[in-house]
Amino acid sequence: MSILNVELDTRSYPIHIDQGLLTSSSLISQHIRGKRVCIVSNTVVQPLYLEQLKASLSDFDVDQVILPDGESEKSLSNFDTIMSHLLSGAHGRDTTLIALGGGVIGDITGFAAACYQRGIDFVQVPTTLLSQVDSSVGGKTAVNHPLGKNMIGAFYQPTSVFIDIDTLKTLPIREFNAGIAEVIKYGILGDYDFFVWLEENIDAIKANDPQVLSRMIERCCELKAQIVSEDEKEGGVRALLNLGHTFGHAIEAEQGYGKWLHGEAVATGMVLAAKLAVELNIIQTSDLRRIEALIGAFDLPLVAPADMGFEEFMRHMKRDKKNLAGKLRFIVPTKIGHSEIRDDITEEQLKNIL
Ligand code: NAD
Ligand code: GLY
Repeated sequence: MSILNVELDTRSYPIHIDQGLLTSSSLISQHIRGKRVCIVSNTVVQPLYLEQLKASLSDFDVDQVILPDGESEKSLSNFDTIMSHLLSGAHGRDTTLIALGGGVIGDITGFAAACYQRGIDFVQVPTTLLSQVDSSVGGKTAVNHPLGKNMIGAFYQPTSVFIDIDTLKTLPIREFNAGIAEVIKYGILGDYDFFVWLEENIDAIKANDPQVLSRMIERCCELKAQIVSEDEKEGGVRALLNLGHTFGHAIEAEQGYGKWLHGEAVATGMVLAAKLAVELNIIQTSDLRRIEALIGAFDLPLVAPADMGFEEFMRHMKRDKKNLAGKLRFIVPTKIGHSEIRDDITEEQLKNIL
């Protein structure tokens, strides 16, 4: 097993990565204070993993909230469902919430933990690749609003993260590939060697080689933990983790949440960010081609939806959370392995690539 640490002073926490974590009896229970646990999951993950997790928590008083599946369920209404469940079950401040599922469950459970009685412990047990390499680490929690994704939320760190790579065996291939988009993101934004390693291991990743998957997830978590430790609340370097997301969020919102998966939209968003960098003359076209080739190798989309042009992108990008003083901010790669934040992009430059 590999154990990494997110260093955040008194809120530091470990990330455990291994096969078989859900079935390895007492490990998760050792990281829970108090005697009560409420597991939050959804109707897809429940039949796959809820009983395994409960079996490893036999010393605790455990109940659960099972939400419907889907991005549209990351809602204030389901936040209220969790609150009502906790209140009607007389859960106190010593209850720990466990998020068992992908990023949707992780984000809403974390937000519920941040708010219930002004903050209770929560543990992340991410079961999608995307949540294992990104959303379960770093404490961004949120629900969506009809007017914007992740617009209501809090920075609130989990007390530990357990990544059981065996859960990837049941993940649909399209969801796996969407997670790979976030994996590739780390290579582009900050680790050239990792990008090369990914290029060299495409077949092993596609074959679900457990050693390769472990190493891949570990490197992503290392990079994310390092960035979050430096800049928990996104005052600076953490914004780099949004590479591809400015364009990506616009695609998700315009198409209707759930039509394009988050990772798919990020994949196209990263290609657009690299095209913007070519337009700015700060990256070589050969790097853009390598980025496109690696993303394309995992059957991820390389071009924006046909019905989206400059106007459609702008309508959504104007509401982006990274914007400061009314200026749009973009993360652009300057080479594979290095990116920077730019707030000087002109409408003309955007028109040229959109
Ligand atoms: P998701 O949670 O919707 O999961 C994808 C699908 O896989 C769902 O249908 C889910 O039920 C199913 N599933 C989950 N685990 C499974 C398994 N092991 N086997 C079979 N099916 C399984 O989506 P996601 O891609 O995990 O997460 C996307 C969400 O994460 C978005 O809401 C996004 O905004 C958020 N996000 C948050 C952060 C953050 O830092 N907090 C970062 C990136 C993304
Ligand atoms: N996924 C972006 C972040 O955690 O900051």
